[in-house]
Amino acid sequence: MSQPKERREFLKKLSAGAALTAASPLAFSQTRELPQYLDLVKRKSIAANDNIRIAVIGTGGMGIGDTNTALMVDGVEVVAACDLYDGRLTRAKELWGKDLMVTKDYREILERNDIDAVINATTDHWHEKICLDAMDKGKHIYCEKPMVQKTPEGHRVIKKQKETGVVFQVGSHYVSSIIHAKAKELLEAGEIGEINFAEAQIDRQSAIGAWQYSIPPDASPETVDWDTYLGQAPKRPWEAKRFFRWRNYWDYGTGMAGDLYVHMLSMLHFVTGSKGPNRVMSTGGLRYWKDGRDVPDIHLGLYDYPETPEHPAFNLALRTNLISGGGGGYLFRIVGSEGDISIGFDSLTLRRTPMPEAPGMSINSFSEEMQEKFKEEYFKKYPRRAQMEGPREFSYKVPSDYKGDRYEHFVNFFESIREGKPVVEDAVFGLRTCGPTEAGNISYQERKIMGWDPEKMEIVDAV
Ligand SMILES: NC(=O)c1ccc[n+]([C@@H]2O[C@H](COP(=O)([O-])OP(=O)(O)OC[C@H]3O[C@@H](n4cnc5c(N)ncnc54)[C@H](O)[C@@H]3O)[C@@H](O)[C@H]2O)c1
Repeated sequence: MSQPKERREFLKKLSAGAALTAASPLAFSQTRELPQYLDLVKRKSIAANDNIRIAVIGTGGMGIGDTNTALMVDGVEVVAACDLYDGRLTRAKELWGKDLMVTKDYREILERNDIDAVINATTDHWHEKICLDAMDKGKHIYCEKPMVQKTPEGHRVIKKQKETGVVFQVGSHYVSSIIHAKAKELLEAGEIGEINFAEAQIDRQSAIGAWQYSIPPDASPETVDWDTYLGQAPKRPWEAKRFFRWRNYWDYGTGMAGDLYVHMLSMLHFVTGSKGPNRVMSTGGLRYWKDGRDVPDIHLGLYDYPETPEHPAFNLALRTNLISGGGGGYLFRIVGSEGDISIGFDSLTLRRTPMPEAPGMSINSFSEEMQEKFKEEYFKKYPRRAQMEGPREFSYKVPSDYKGDRYEHFVNFFESIREGKPVVEDAVFGLRTCGPTEAGNISYQERKIMGWDPEKMEIVDAV
């Protein structure tokens, strides 16, 4: 999309400014100030008697990761843990002390008045119910992504959060990364012109990458509360795979879209300020992991973003392949009219490649005399010059002492609890990322183009 002339002039001035003055990799400390919520210096110190007491519900991989990250923040202690598998409760005590309260019934945790906040790191199909119950008991919540499995659940979570006023943070932690803050700053400064396309790719070639998680030798209905686990999902006899490898089944998970694309949409919405796409189409298939799973192992998604005051219309292409022949691979790239930004986990690269203003010189078929004449006039009109002043490529990386986006995400959560600061990823933001991915799953399942209303946050007919 071409931009108005005044805007282009404004952007040129900005790009000649202080932020991009060196061609070699820069640490963030050498660049402009970070947004306030990431400012480590302003963080207040926390008195010992001022601890925030947390509990974790769902102590699998992410519950452990989240809790350990939360404990890196000053003034936070973990006092209780809940899980449906005995072995994970034993592990919780090994990790966080023998005095830790452990239970298979999360309601016992919610009844405790001395617990301020809960981490909800259960399987996707339990997110809504546990969040609603926890908010009813006045607990602040850090809810793992995808915030909910289905869009109507998201509306109930938003409503309950408004009624109760608890702090609610969704766990797509990449939005708290200083790399994404930098990408946002660069995009807003016009460094790549106006966004017209974004793409992401997550390819994996490993059993764990394809969600073939380990099943402990003692897995059985004696060690797992299977009936509770099923919850609202269809009743069925015990099957260890459906408990320990739940991502492979629509009943408990959300496929690659809910698991992985939610991160991509979260990052993109944070960087662009977008409220979401309005058209979604997906395809893919189950090609290799024929292990009983019913979700695809290749999933391609196209998301159309409409023009809004925040950004012009653009397209997003997403690709996940759990059987990638070339090994694993990760890409997240935002493309604009004057360059692109490739964003990694701890670095980004900005390339400035403006569209040429001049027509090309397809003059070989002209007579030599005519070629010379053409060139003379051409170079008079478009003098040979660098199309852009300054270096074309810049890389940024996080400082060596950066504690990471997960840490920053929890810092933001606890600051919201203590100081009333807004969270970076509230329930509305959460639904605006998982709702479109649900539409993407329906598109895959029903082989049709879906619509999404980013304002009302509803799955609608395709526009
Ligand atoms: N933010 C991220 O990058 C990230 C990464 C991985 C996982 N996640 C999310 O975290 C959540 C958990 O994923 P995981 O990989 O840790 O899964 P996991 O299988 O390792 O752990 C999930 C645990 O939830 C427990 N659980 C389920 N229902 C429960 C209930 N009603 N009460 C108590 N416990 C219950 C299970 O017993 C299980 O141990 C998922 O929603 C996933 O999408 C987020």
